[in-house]
Amino acid sequence: MKNLIVANWKMNPQTYKEAEDLAKDILKGAEAVKDVEVVICPPFVYLPLLKDFTTGGQNCFYEESGAYTGEISPVMLKNLGAEYVIIGHSERRKYFNETNEAINKKIKKALELGLKVIFCVGETAEERDGGKKNEVLENQLKEGLKEIDNFSDINIAYEPVWAIGTGNNCNVAEAKDAMEFIKNIVKENTRILYGGSVKLDNSASYIKEAGYNGLLVGGASLKPDEFVNIIKSAE
Ligand code: PGA
Repeated sequence: MKNLIVANWKMNPQTYKEAEDLAKDILKGAEAVKDVEVVICPPFVYLPLLKDFTTGGQNCFYEESGAYTGEISPVMLKNLGAEYVIIGHSERRKYFNETNEAINKKIKKALELGLKVIFCVGETAEERDGGKKNEVLENQLKEGLKEIDNFSDINIAYEPVWAIGTGNNCNVAEAKDAMEFIKNIVKENTRILYGGSVKLDNSASYIKEAGYNGLLVGGASLKPDEFVNIIKSAE
């Protein structure tokens, strides 16, 4: 399986033109890279712009259609050409009160409808400081993956919340421990990605030293040169 590098653009950029330019620059730089799978997860409105990429949603709902104002169905993502969807990102858990139960429903529905899932788990600073990290990870994994028995389309992203958008990335030894902890619980051949302040100066270490199968990149995925070099560092 190739290493997987996922761009999470979050709620950026602000115009169609900027999204178009960003996509063009990434494509130009990354076109020659063949040994790494690259997935761009833009805000939904930009998905039609990204026909030359493998794309993913940043979220989806657990119903296919109906009266759910403001939600996006996994069917719509598929119909717009998305192959992947991020589910359970800590910003969704925090700002939209997503529970492990809702995340489990979303994962099941996305898989049922043929999307590949990037399932995010990770502890907050408070949980880590309080010695609860492993308990939190175990809960998120067990509840999020409840009643799922086919893992071929599941990727797990370990994203310590305290490392996201802070510049305070997790050190390699701790990231490696978390990966091993996750593997012990999941015991399936899923790709495990690291996310949280991934930059060019640390990206290779998660893959080459800690043994991760890819990266989930937020802030640095909006800087085309850096992002392209992050992709190359995963070769
Ligand atoms: P960051 O975000 O790279 O900006 O820390 C990662 C993420 O939230 O997926």
